[in-house]
Amino acid sequence: GARNDLTGLRVVVTAGGTREPLDPVRFLGNRSSGRQGAQLAIAAADRGAEVTLVAAHMDADALAAASAHRRIDITRVGTALELQHAVTAAAAGAQVVVMAAAVADYRPARVSDTKLTKEGGDGTLTLELVENPDIVAGLAAHRPAGQTVVAFAAETEPDAVARLERARRKRARKGVDLLVVNEVGWRAGFEADHNAIVIVGSEGEVAAEFSGTKRETADAVWDGVQTLRARVD
Ligand code: C5P
Repeated sequence: GARNDLTGLRVVVTAGGTREPLDPVRFLGNRSSGRQGAQLAIAAADRGAEVTLVAAHMDADALAAASAHRRIDITRVGTALELQHAVTAAAAGAQVVVMAAAVADYRPARVSDTKLTKEGGDGTLTLELVENPDIVAGLAAHRPAGQTVVAFAAETEPDAVARLERARRKRARKGVDLLVVNEVGWRAGFEADHNAIVIVGSEGEVAAEFSGTKRETADAVWDGVQTLRARVD
């Protein structure tokens, strides 16, 4: 890892899971631990990059590991809209953006100022949700010249062929240079120390396949970014 091959690059990494409030004490969230995102930030900083980590909710140990690095600057966010604001600001001066955060697709249409209560209810609760913007698609569409944009896709589709087809469509829809696909489920992916990824490139090709620790996986992603940037430069 200490190759210093990212020296001179400014990179932005988003990590963790957004939390969309329902009321002052409740939210809609997800199981992202932020560990892969933290390792992406640490790997980039170890390789010489100046890193902005936009951290949604993540495990305390993952956040602490990233906080300890002198080349990592951390901005903490809660909701998808806060994440969008922070990553858009940080991306303006960056050569690479890696969106590893698990962003809520929807947020509650209304946030109650007081705790939602069962009182007077009929035994059910219906929540109205509105779609969040696709943040990485917006970044990719408005990026400065020469910026590389990488998205992640956590997929539960068990069939590898169907998963790859979905990934190709997703990469094209989002307009990103690389889509890093990892299979997740009730056990794999989240909260684990290992990860298995397939990186899909802009021709829909499998640019790389890798499995290892989340740190090794992070290095494989940066290797993929470097290969791409060497080709484009
Ligand atoms: O469409 P899907 O949620 O599977 O895409 C995942 C990728 O898109 C991740 O890189 C995630 O950070 C990003 N994303 C986003 N804005 C959203 C939802 C996902 O940028 N609203």
